[in-house]
Amino acid sequence: MSDIKFRQIAETIEARINTGVYPANTKLPPHRVLADELETTPTTVSKAYKLLAEKNKVESFIGRGTFVCGDSELETVIQAPEDDADYNFSILQPCLKHNVLPLQAAFQKTYATLPSELLGYIEHSGHLAHRQAGMKWAAEFGLSVSDPEQILLASGAQNALEILIQTYTKPGDCIAVEAFTYPGMLSIANLLGRRIVEVPMDDKGMCPIALKQTILSDKPKVVVIVPSHQNPTGVTMPKARREAIAKVIRAGDIWLLEDDIYGFLNETIIPAISNYIPEKSFHITSLSKAISPALRCAFIKAPKSEVRRVGACIRTSIWLASPLNFAVATQLINSGEAFAMANKQKQLATQRQTFATKQFGFLVCSSQPTSYHVWIQLPEHWRQEHFVMEAKNQQLLVSSGGYFSQQSDKSNHIRLSLMAIDDEQRFQQGIVLLADLIKGGQGSHFLF
Ligand SMILES: Cc1ncc(COP(=O)(O)O)c(C=O)c1O
Repeated sequence: MSDIKFRQIAETIEARINTGVYPANTKLPPHRVLADELETTPTTVSKAYKLLAEKNKVESFIGRGTFVCGDSELETVIQAPEDDADYNFSILQPCLKHNVLPLQAAFQKTYATLPSELLGYIEHSGHLAHRQAGMKWAAEFGLSVSDPEQILLASGAQNALEILIQTYTKPGDCIAVEAFTYPGMLSIANLLGRRIVEVPMDDKGMCPIALKQTILSDKPKVVVIVPSHQNPTGVTMPKARREAIAKVIRAGDIWLLEDDIYGFLNETIIPAISNYIPEKSFHITSLSKAISPALRCAFIKAPKSEVRRVGACIRTSIWLASPLNFAVATQLINSGEAFAMANKQKQLATQRQTFATKQFGFLVCSSQPTSYHVWIQLPEHWRQEHFVMEAKNQQLLVSSGGYFSQQSDKSNHIRLSLMAIDDEQRFQQGIVLLADLIKGGQGSHFLF
């Protein structure tokens, strides 16, 4: 392949971008399609796309293709594999094959005796039995809660976060988050026009002194913290750090949104930060990570004073989260099956962490022994975006560290989800391939 050819192809694509043939934020044609049209090979097109990516003309997203740059949206991080041959280390979800049968049984049992009241509108934000089940779920993993009226139902933790940000901040307000954070939170801030301030963390999570300073300097209205198996760094806040953070929040004019979606993975029960400041915190849990993201079942514990206000916002946005799914969730929680499923996933995560951390022993990695994911610092010879593209060429889908901060070049990391691949052998194969790729030099692996 000559150098001239791919540069000519890149010029053709760039001209099409500049003249609006390919508008901002639209997806470029797949490599094969463009190669046929321009009478070249997919490899040459791939090389041209890479050149354009270096010029910030286009961006590639794992599993979704290449897009013309414009207002890049952070939600593109959540990638679905397009090809059965892809190794999906990108999506943070449970190993679904273990959950199919118990879910089928719960759906059958619940729907066999469906009462008509579950099919209608109801006045409050969720049926009492479903709120009680939410209380049981959250209490099992460290939340102090005794009044089901304080539990509100949402369609997944993402919906819960969005509702709380809508309710407790205005456009232009500032939201404090961890130095690296869940990209869905960054998307909410972008969509709603809220400013983000990233608070430094260490190996125990967000630093209390830094939060105190941020409260003084930026006056955020809320602080969002993922205290367990933080996404993406894998850090779990120990009890003492939770107490210290609670102390800072108690003294400040700020609400806490405690997103404890991975709390069920903790090796021992750690009290929620919200336990120390129940009057100033919203605690969020969800069944997406232990059971299935398709259930869209999340629970918010609100301060007593705020239940009506949050309930009103839920009604305004979605009226109510589907009682049908919450009926299934309630069946699973009350029968104990939900906890058994969570435990099984935790055991599998432990096995997979052991395998992965052994393979990545030569690297600086951050995770807990029971985490679903691992945050890997790439060696000097790799840059995160290039690595992600190169891994994709080998059908290894990973997430670039750049997705987890507003400053995409703040890190040189990748985040690997260890649970999305169903088959153990395939999982291990993928990890070995990734370890080899990381060890190898950029030059030796570049296919562009
Ligand atoms: C920290 C965190 N919060 C919220 C979510 C969204 O969860 P749900 O599927 O319940 O909306 C995720 C999903 O990856 C997450 O990692």
